[in-house]
Amino acid sequence: MPVPYIGHARYSDEETLGRLDRRCWSALHSVQPRPRPPYDPFFSDRFGPRDHLVAELAGAVVGYIRLGFPTPLESNAHVRQIQGLVVAEETRGAGVGRALLRAVQDEARRQGARRITLRVLGHNTPARKLYESEGFVVEGVLPEEFFLDGEYADDVLMGRFL
Ligand SMILES: CC(C)(COP(=O)(O)OP(=O)(O)OC[C@H]1O[C@@H](n2cnc3c(N)ncnc32)[C@H](O)[C@@H]1OP(=O)(O)O)[C@@H](O)C(=O)NCCC(=O)NCCS
Repeated sequence: MPVPYIGHARYSDEETLGRLDRRCWSALHSVQPRPRPPYDPFFSDRFGPRDHLVAELAGAVVGYIRLGFPTPLESNAHVRQIQGLVVAEETRGAGVGRALLRAVQDEARRQGARRITLRVLGHNTPARKLYESEGFVVEGVLPEEFFLDGEYADDVLMGRFL
């Protein structure tokens, strides 16, 4: 499998990213209800193109990762949080998720962050394995925090120093 190109998103990626997000929706990773029209724009006041890295294979966007702040507090400004990661189903298992995760850590370092954190559902084994293999450790668990598809799911807090 070729190595994906990773770069910042552009405004022109908005439609593609929105479609990718909707197509990949699942209760394995999402705590939002299944998207229904009219769809919200992918970019918002809170998250614009500069807050996303996209992965491209042969010029096509096949995944993205969103980097934000856990809170708007100045006292918390040394920490970044991964607030979205999706790889197109047909390109999973080929290293795209890992490439995005590595690139976002480089980006967080470039921004001067000391730590990076994330939240992942307890039953999301593929994502948890990926994070663990990149040095993230479980730093807390909110038991049965969500009720999804008829079952309770833990919210697992993971993080690492950069
Ligand atoms: C999680 C996700 C981003 C992984 O992307 P990917 O491109 O398939 O991941 P990679 O190919 O880079 O795999 C890297 C590692 O992740 C783990 N992994 C990936 N898929 C896995 C699976 N189905 N089962 C177990 N581990 C898996 C493995 O440790 C793998 O390393 P290995 O290939 O050396 O075994 C992708 O499955 C996805 O988009 N899932 C839906 C959205 C989601 O869950 N996002 C995370 C929200 S917190």
